[in-house]
Amino acid sequence: MTYTLANIRMKNYLTASSSPLTESIERLRCCYEAGFSSAILKSSAAYVKTGTGHGRKIVYVKDGYYADASFEREILTLEEGIELYKEAVKNCPSDMLLIPSVSASSLETEKWLKPCSQFELYGAPLIQLDFFYLGTLEHDERFYKKLKILLVKLVQGLDCTIMPKLNLNFEPERTCKVLKESGIKTVSLLDSMREIPDSNLGLREGTTSYFGARQLPYTIKYLKIAKQYGLEVCAGGGVTSKNDVDLLLATGADMVQVASYILNRDFRAVEELLDAKLCSDTRSDITKHNPWCDCENGKKCEKCGACVPH
Ligand SMILES: Cc1cc2nc3c(=O)[nH]c(=O)nc-3n(C[C@H](O)[C@H](O)[C@H](O)COP(=O)(O)O)c2cc1C
Repeated sequence: MTYTLANIRMKNYLTASSSPLTESIERLRCCYEAGFSSAILKSSAAYVKTGTGHGRKIVYVKDGYYADASFEREILTLEEGIELYKEAVKNCPSDMLLIPSVSASSLETEKWLKPCSQFELYGAPLIQLDFFYLGTLEHDERFYKKLKILLVKLVQGLDCTIMPKLNLNFEPERTCKVLKESGIKTVSLLDSMREIPDSNLGLREGTTSYFGARQLPYTIKYLKIAKQYGLEVCAGGGVTSKNDVDLLLATGADMVQVASYILNRDFRAVEELLDAKLCSDTRSDITKHNPWCDCENGKKCEKCGACVPH
């Protein structure tokens, strides 16, 4: 079986989702050593940090976990994102596809075109458009019209392939139709669910997302609709077993992306999600690395949200 994304041949079907797994060179190297064929880098946006955003807090619940973090905590500045991409290209073997991810909180063309053009300049053949923060806009008739205008301009203005990443705020039929009509060929599914958890967990409304098995039925729903529109799909969100991976592939996923399965274990767990024949027999020791941050020797950090449990 051969796997491709944006006409690029992959050594297997497994991609590391944009997440703490793909936020540093150390962790990207672990992704490679662990067996991922590709990695979507942590999202970046053209903005200036003000230092006012709150840090990340992780709270584990019985069927998954919540992550609460501000835009400033989760989204790298464009300069940080470009630096990460350039260093990753230097440090990771060429048979791993590195996919930058660009984010913005408005549909203004320049907010997307400028960062995408920069990543393209540094050689990125494929870029994810992280639409998570568009979730806060009202998704009315005008929104979908503006979205189409944006995507048409991006397709016209860039040579690389762009891969929008959807979340539950996007009505799937309508969005896939817009993507298709705009000339988009590839889509990334499905981001976490913005949720208002139990108030005694001390998490903020509006910046908290749920991660876990409850996501998977939505991922499958969006995947089926995207395939009906003839889109290539890098599908994930809610994978909690190899069976889930197989189900996504059987439902038409061209590639499968995961974050939490590895974040909840460590990089060695990649092997559990690959077919046995795809696994390397010489796995390097660096795959024991903490998937959330680069702290070593059991030291804990205050930043990643997972070192200090809540
Ligand atoms: C702490 C954290 C940070 C994330 N940051 C990003 C991000 O910057 N860009 C993005 O597109 N997705 C981001 N994601 C979402 C993941 O890419 C993925 O869509 C989500 O975790 C669902 O997949 P999973 O069930 O395999 O974890 C993040 C996820 C986590 C847990």
